[in-house]
Amino acid sequence: MKITRNVLLNPGPATTTDSVKLAQAVPDICPREQEFGDLMEFCATEITKFVGNTNDYATVLFGGSGTATVEAILNSVIPDSGKVLIIDNGAYGKRMCQITSVYKIPTVIYESSSIEPINLNALEDLINSTEGLTHLAMIHHETTTGLLNDVTSVGAICKKHNISFIVDSMSGFAAIPVDMKSMNIDYLAASSNKNIQGMAGIGFAICNKAALESTASIPMRSLYLNLYAQYAYFEKTHQTRFTPPVQTFYALKQAIVETHEETIEGRYARYTKSWETLLDGLDTLGLEYLIDKEHHSRIITSIIEPNTETYDFNEMHDYFFEKGFTIYPGKVNNYDTFRISNIGQIDYKDIKDFLKVLKAYLVKINYIQ
Ligand SMILES: Cc1ncc(COP(=O)(O)O)c(C=O)c1O
Repeated sequence: MKITRNVLLNPGPATTTDSVKLAQAVPDICPREQEFGDLMEFCATEITKFVGNTNDYATVLFGGSGTATVEAILNSVIPDSGKVLIIDNGAYGKRMCQITSVYKIPTVIYESSSIEPINLNALEDLINSTEGLTHLAMIHHETTTGLLNDVTSVGAICKKHNISFIVDSMSGFAAIPVDMKSMNIDYLAASSNKNIQGMAGIGFAICNKAALESTASIPMRSLYLNLYAQYAYFEKTHQTRFTPPVQTFYALKQAIVETHEETIEGRYARYTKSWETLLDGLDTLGLEYLIDKEHHSRIITSIIEPNTETYDFNEMHDYFFEKGFTIYPGKVNNYDTFRISNIGQIDYKDIKDFLKVLKAYLVKINYIQ
């Protein structure tokens, strides 16, 4: 079967291989069958192994998008007597704050620049002056801008202050290497449709087992999105408590196999080459980007929009879409940007092709000759 290849330059769901797409075409199966339990067990174990050892860490799977998993972690692990500090330096940090506000979880917000690195001294001052702090939550790679946050340093601060550390690595996991133990991360959230290059529909929380088991007595705030309940049920049964996205799991298995083949380091090297190609092209076309190379994730680039009346994002989007490239609007307050992500099964040659189309668009609107 020939499947049209679209080059998705949005930050997930990403372009996938045909083998991942086709892995979903399987005989119908009841997800309560052992064969399917084995498949989920394979996915959970292999996901854990990308970031930690399976004696100390376990992956809890949810049917749902990435936000469901972030919500599951935040509503499940912080007791009423606890308090979480959330670092907000973009839309996804803000989303964490929204979640704890909905669940009325005591929260302190550390607002940080959306384009500059986190000031670690100021963060530690806030930790020192906050009574009763038990958790700290942050984003690994702020997809809003492309800013890569210094999770290693914040993890060391958490260790020093004996604070449990929660990281949303939705757009970092499976490309930017993570070692939960040395980074002192207790809970890491990610999903099936970004750098792991599977289909949308599964979120996962990789958890320090000892930390997770200590949450067993916290009263449930959500029935569906309870981390410990799903963990305990899966340990016993190899099943999710509620109907899982069956075919998406078959695709995830294939995506995991392909991630092993390429290796995380190899994948990040491929993404990096695409990103470097993009930045070279932007320089040639006279377009600027928001985040310094030094603090850049190499995964998504926020590009300053051309400053001319003839430019229109929607028109540019449609121009690219017709030619097989999907681009993404900006999301940063105070800056007019659009975003290009270089994740998924694409490489620098696709970025070169994209740059040709970008050049043609800029000529068409008389931004360049
Ligand atoms: C860092 C981060 N967190 C959370 C999310 C939310 O994921 P979803 O849209 O799958 O709910 C995203 C999505 O792009 C993200 O980049």
